[in-house]
Amino acid sequence: MDLLGQWKRTHHCGELRSDHIGQEVTLMGWVLRRRDHGGVIFIDLRDREGITQVVFEPEINPETHTHAHKLRSEYCIAVKGRVRRRPEGMENPKIPTGEIEVEAHKLRILNISKTPPFPLDEEVEVSEVHRLRYRYLDLRRPYMMEGLRFRHQVAQAARNFLDQAGFIEVETPFLTKSTPEGARDYLVPSRLYPGKFYALPQSPQLFKQILMVAGLDRYYQIVRCFRDEDLRADRQPEFTQLDLEMSFVSEEDIMGLLEELVCHLFRETMGQELKRPFPVLTYQEALEKYGTDRPDLRFELELKTLTPVFEKTSFRVFAEVVKRGGLIKGLCVPGDFSRKELDDLTAFANELGAKGLAWIKVREGGELQSPIVKFFSEEEVKGLLKALSPSPGSTIFFVADKPEVVNEVLAELRVELARRLNLIREKEFRFCWIVDFPLVEWDEEEGRYVAMHHPFTSPKEEDLDFLEKEPERVRSRAYDLVLNGIEVGGGSIRIHRPDIQERVFKLLKISREEAREKFGFLLEALEFGAPPHGGFAFGFDRLVMLMLGRKSIREVIAFPKTQRAQCLLTGAPAPVTITQLTELHLLPGWEVEKEKNNI
Ligand code: AMO
Ligand code: AMP
Repeated sequence: MDLLGQWKRTHHCGELRSDHIGQEVTLMGWVLRRRDHGGVIFIDLRDREGITQVVFEPEINPETHTHAHKLRSEYCIAVKGRVRRRPEGMENPKIPTGEIEVEAHKLRILNISKTPPFPLDEEVEVSEVHRLRYRYLDLRRPYMMEGLRFRHQVAQAARNFLDQAGFIEVETPFLTKSTPEGARDYLVPSRLYPGKFYALPQSPQLFKQILMVAGLDRYYQIVRCFRDEDLRADRQPEFTQLDLEMSFVSEEDIMGLLEELVCHLFRETMGQELKRPFPVLTYQEALEKYGTDRPDLRFELELKTLTPVFEKTSFRVFAEVVKRGGLIKGLCVPGDFSRKELDDLTAFANELGAKGLAWIKVREGGELQSPIVKFFSEEEVKGLLKALSPSPGSTIFFVADKPEVVNEVLAELRVELARRLNLIREKEFRFCWIVDFPLVEWDEEEGRYVAMHHPFTSPKEEDLDFLEKEPERVRSRAYDLVLNGIEVGGGSIRIHRPDIQERVFKLLKISREEAREKFGFLLEALEFGAPPHGGFAFGFDRLVMLMLGRKSIREVIAFPKTQRAQCLLTGAPAPVTITQLTELHLLPGWEVEKEKNNI
């Protein structure tokens, strides 16, 4: 039987107001809660748009009322009835439909439901394993629905903006060759070509550059990317980029357009005006002041370099670091810490690789209290105070080590201390650009230079002379966009001249043969009048997460994977049949023989 019959929904569950009082309506949705009050049954009926209270009274329709006794959580139902004002004092100002209720005349149970494994009321904390396993129930909750809807709005606003700005959306292949974003590839075996594989794209990088060679001029795509890397709260094995590329532009043009785009997104989806231009920090400045190229600017704390102050120190720990050419940096924070807190913070620093965490408390009178200050000369104390100008009641922390360790530890400590001292202005959105990245960095493991962005990123014209002599001095034309301490996107002006591309490959120890084999198609394309071009990609999930103030991108992805890259809903990854493996030439010969002979 078609349970819906001739019934047509007239309103959704978030729609009815006092204006509708007296109207006959038909609502459809799910039973959120059922309450029995001395014979009267109250249902909170929920759909995507909201909740409406439905009342079943024995006097109105005894049959319907009896029927309503059967209702349980998450039953899918249709109700016909009349909108009426709630009795005085029974209004619920917390929901938009709180002034009215629907007096039920007829009820149809469209589908029953098993008892949900967790209640869908907002207040209840549910383990993420359960939420992912029963994602369809999790998504029924307004909190999750809001995430999906908001994500849609951001995508829609982005499409409108980019369309207006002359961008054309083009889809690029998923079954492709390896792309060089630095992560591990997901591979797909080829059935037709034994031993050969497609790689899922880590980004559309090479295709979008080829589209520029093709004369497309302005391309964009909201696109899935695949990276087999270690996962975190802001990393998924498949994630979405808002990806774009432009021809005949410089970095200022691209960054300007991106700022306009970001402002448009905040205005359209949140009614919020952002301040422009966004601050620009060079990579060196960011490292110097914040210890990281992803600074959170929602609070002020800055690191200070103190190596020069301790050049001739007799404090053994610092002296040894100076001797080895290391770095000493300090961080002054407004706050006092107990012995236990200091021990905790030292453990935190140790975990990140620091050998210790020295500290000085600055007392109200300006007196310094610390186990190490007795080792400092008067000169050193003076230098220290000059560099940090600590106010009374603050604490100074020091890390001395190799520069990478010092920066990493103090960058994390800076955020941790700001959190503990409540210094983070949680409601703010603080964007900044990071520019002038080094083109390459030395990779200890591989014993060669590797590209800091990707091998198609253009070096700065004025640094070209150092490419062979002092590669670490060469800056690239790359730019990252950081929001509240998280990298939300990155891009660069690309190399469009084959001769420079060749020099960069040489530096990266990518041989001509290897380059031909891996990205020959792009290199060849560049030889056919490639225009100067550059682009950018937002981590779309991260952007939406931050705009909504959520802690994990899994909260804004309909069907995310766990930290261990599993889909708990479908059970992927899963085993496949021997037949499939055989077709894909993934079984050794003896296995195939075994199967053929049915052994
Ligand atoms: P990049 O590798 O920096 O650049 O990626 C762009 C942005 O994508 C986001 N991101 C991720 N988000 C979730 N999960 C992941 N595993 C993940 N990895 C990256 C980040 C990052 O800033 N082709 C270049 C862009 C370009 O040069 O135009 C690229 O892919 O927010
Ligand atoms: P030690 O002489 O090893 O007991 O260290 C004296 C103080 O310096 C202790 O408070 C240590 O935590 C601190 N310390 C040790 N090594 C370092 C380091 N590499 N950077 C900063 N502080 C350190």
